[in-house]
Amino acid sequence: MSTASPRVALVTGAASGIGLAIATQLAKDGFVTVMLDRSASITSIAADVAGQTHAIVCDVADETAIHAAVEAVDARYGRCDVLVNNAGIHPKREGGKFLIEQIPMAQWQEVMAVNLTSAFVFCQRVMPLMRRHRWGRIINISSRGGRTASPVASAHYAATKAGLIGFTRIAALEGAVDGITANCVAPGPIESAMTAGSSPEVRAAFARSVPLGRYGDPEEIASAVSYLAGDGSSFITGAIFDINGGTYMP
Ligand SMILES: NC(=O)c1ccc[n+]([C@@H]2O[C@H](COP(=O)([O-])OP(=O)(O)OC[C@H]3O[C@@H](n4cnc5c(N)ncnc54)[C@H](O)[C@@H]3O)[C@@H](O)[C@H]2O)c1
Repeated sequence: MSTASPRVALVTGAASGIGLAIATQLAKDGFVTVMLDRSASITSIAADVAGQTHAIVCDVADETAIHAAVEAVDARYGRCDVLVNNAGIHPKREGGKFLIEQIPMAQWQEVMAVNLTSAFVFCQRVMPLMRRHRWGRIINISSRGGRTASPVASAHYAATKAGLIGFTRIAALEGAVDGITANCVAPGPIESAMTAGSSPEVRAAFARSVPLGRYGDPEEIASAVSYLAGDGSSFITGAIFDINGGTYMP
């Protein structure tokens, strides 16, 4: 990294699972890493990550809170070079999915707000900071469930993850003039609190369906995000990295 001040990376949903692995990797890569989560535990979790980290408690469903978080980053560092929209929820019904007829409106709206609208609001606030330095990396964490019909995905979850892909393509087009790339990572089944919420039967059946025969680890997503966040990915934009053990090969 050759910039005068270290580059700053902001990772949402960084208190556990994939987000924590991404933040840990980016901090190791030398980014000042802003770890944002709605859980107050983010403060002690960020303190335990090696490297320069900064914790922010923020509910990404709250537009005002996002504005305040990005303003705090701008005031402190004057930059935000990498944005990883990772925070996400996938409500489960008795360890399985919700059928369309079973999804309450409030839950539909919450999934939209956390998984999709938050990426829009973060990009709206962070892209001007990236344009200031004519460099940026937006990395949106989609899902295999947004790429193809997944037997374990509920409709609201799949809709947000497919929506993120369309959103990312437009961000790629609009950011390109200022050296900003925007890409999606679409994980298949990964060990985390999210998939631990599935019943043992669902987990076992899903693991059997993976050609590589197992769930992935959060670190196997973080290594791809690390690559996309660096200078080496400079000609990749509007792309989708499918990281799913072979369960979906378009
Ligand atoms: N685990 C998988 O198999 C898998 C597969 C495909 C995609 N994904 C995606 O990866 C991302 C991370 O998932 P994970 O498996 O690590 O889940 P996780 O539940 O372990 O972590 C999600 C994190 O997001 C935070 N979060 C949730 N709602 C928030 C909100 N409103 N504001 C701020 N923070 C919030 C949680 O506190 C938690 O720390 C999600 O977007 C998920 O959809 C996961």
